Amino acid sequence: MVGRSVVSLDDLTVTEIRELLDKAAYIATHQRQVAHTCDGRVLAALFYEPSTRTRLSFETAMLRLGGKTIGFAGAQLASVSKGESIADTIKTTANYADIIALRHPKEGAALIAKEAAASYGVPVINAGDGGHMHPTQTLADLATIQSRFGRLDQLTIGLCGDLTFGRTVHSLIETLCRFGNVHFVLISPEELVTPRYVLDRIEATPSCSYVEVRDLTQVIGDLDVLYMTRVQKERFFNEDDYLRLRDTYILDEQKLAQAKTSMAVLHPLPRVNEIAVEVDDDPRAAYFEQVRNGMLMRMALESSVLGDELPGYVPANKE
Ligand code: CP
Repeated sequence: MVGRSVVSLDDLTVTEIRELLDKAAYIATHQRQVAHTCDGRVLAALFYEPSTRTRLSFETAMLRLGGKTIGFAGAQLASVSKGESIADTIKTTANYADIIALRHPKEGAALIAKEAAASYGVPVINAGDGGHMHPTQTLADLATIQSRFGRLDQLTIGLCGDLTFGRTVHSLIETLCRFGNVHFVLISPEELVTPRYVLDRIEATPSCSYVEVRDLTQVIGDLDVLYMTRVQKERFFNEDDYLRLRDTYILDEQKLAQAKTSMAVLHPLPRVNEIAVEVDDDPRAAYFEQVRNGMLMRMALESSVLGDELPGYVPANKE
C-alpha cells in the first residue's frame, strides 16, 4: 500500500482492506502506542466542498498518529477562487505535504489529483468526489458492519433513500460485492434509483443479488443492516424535486419495531430528517460508532500509505 493513492476502493485488494480493518481494530485499543507513528508527517486536507466528519477525522487521524495538518475548508479561501486548476493546487500542495486528502464536488477530481501528485510521490486519498466515490466512508461502513456482525458476508443489507446521488452507497455496494455473499435490498423512490453501473456490478457477482423496492416497511423485517441516506440536496437541479422527495423515508421507533433486534442502522451522516432523533438511543443505532470507525480506518490508511508501521502491531495472519 505504500505510496499508493486511493481514488476508489478498487485501488486496494480485498486482502489490503481486511488488513486495514485489522489495523483499525488494533489502533482502537492501542491509541497511546501508536501516538508517534507518523511523527514529522504532514497531511494536506483540501476540502472544496463542505464536510464535518471526513475533514475532521482525516485531520484527527494524522494528529493522533503524531503528524501535523495543513489545508483549507472552502475553496473561496484558496487560490482556486482566483481560477487555479485542481492540478496546479495539487502540484503546489505536494511540495508541502506527505499525503493529500481531497474532497471536490466534481466526479473525477480525485483522479486528476492523483495524476498531478504522482511525480511527487505523494499519495492522494479521495475524500469524496461529487456523486462518484467516497472510499474512506466505505472503510468506516465496513468496520462498523464487521464490528457488529463479525463478518462482511452472509448478510441482507438494505440501502434506503437517495441511491442515485449517494456516493457512499455506490462505494459500499461495489466493495461488498468483492467480499461476496450479500443480498442487497435497494429502497428508493423511482426518481432516485441505483445507477445502472452499480447494478451491473451486483449482477456480475454470482454470489450477490438484489431487489429494488419502494416501501421500507415491507422489507425492514428482513434486514441485517439498514443503511439510511440523506437526499442529496446539493446534487439536485430542481428545488421542487428535492422538496418533494426529501422526506420519502423517515426511520422512527415505530418502523424500527418491525426490524430484527440484531439489525444495525447505519448512516454516513449528516442526517437531515431521515432518522428520528429517538432512534439514537436504540441499541441498533450504529451511526455514531460509524463516525469513530471512520477516524480509526483513516488512521490505518494514512499510516499504511505512508509506510509508517504501527508499533506493536502484528498482522493477523502472522500471529
Ligand atoms: N459522511 C461524510 O462524508 O460526512 P461529511 O460530509 O460531514 O464529511
